[in-house]
Amino acid sequence: MTEEQKPDLPEGKRIRKIRSYVKREGRMTKGQARAMEVYWPTMGLEHDMGRIDLTQVFGREAPVVLEIGFGMGKSLVEMAAAEPEKNFIGIEVHGPGVGACLMYAEELGVKNLRVYEHDAVEILGDCIPDASLDRVQLYFPDPWHKKRHHKRRIVQPEFIESVRNKLKMGGVFHMATDWEHYAEHMLEEMNEAPGFTNTADKDFVPRPDFRPLTKFEARGHRLGHGVWDLIFARSK
Ligand SMILES: C[S@@+](CC[C@H](N)C(=O)[O-])C[C@H]1O[C@@H](n2cnc3c(N)ncnc32)[C@H](O)[C@@H]1O
Repeated sequence: MTEEQKPDLPEGKRIRKIRSYVKREGRMTKGQARAMEVYWPTMGLEHDMGRIDLTQVFGREAPVVLEIGFGMGKSLVEMAAAEPEKNFIGIEVHGPGVGACLMYAEELGVKNLRVYEHDAVEILGDCIPDASLDRVQLYFPDPWHKKRHHKRRIVQPEFIESVRNKLKMGGVFHMATDWEHYAEHMLEEMNEAPGFTNTADKDFVPRPDFRPLTKFEARGHRLGHGVWDLIFARSK
């Protein structure tokens, strides 16, 4: 049985869980492995911990920002360093990315960041308390270009509803992509989703100052792509 198949029906039939990623191979560098060893005990969160108490996790009450699929964590760590008065949680499935994130957090002396190495869809559902987040960030999610792969795109009605449940009233869901078709898809899905209001005058917003340029964005610029930011607020 592959990782994506789970026992389901009593007759032994199985359903295939569609995931938004394919686990990449790749080993950690020595530096990443060391950062994991040193910092995971204080900065790492595990799916097995179940529903977390955010005040307990951070040792203080503060607005919480959660980022899904932070890659190598560069922009996430920079944001956490720039807003020390906020608590940040990052979720990423790629192990070396998590190691790189912890290494960079050490370099910048960031203390207000906790990370999961797990599927964000499961973390949202199983670990994050309802109505607890001030901002959810999804930057440059895998676009899954081919039509037959569109079902793998993370931005789907069920996912959007899960994000809404976790946001406080008035909290925002911020997405960015350099893939125009995905931007249109995001916009359509968000316009149709109940309980969200677009903060843009029309469709997209300019990149807000709090979002640093990411590696993927820089690449997009080089290829002559545009970048689209969407910020929707929870209204219900
Ligand atoms: C195209 S990369 C963008 C990385 C980063 N946000 C950036 O802008 O540089 C997408 C990332 O999302 C991660 N990812 C995809 N689906 C995920 C999921 N369900 N849970 C956690 N991470 C996920 C991938 O492993 C990958 O690192």
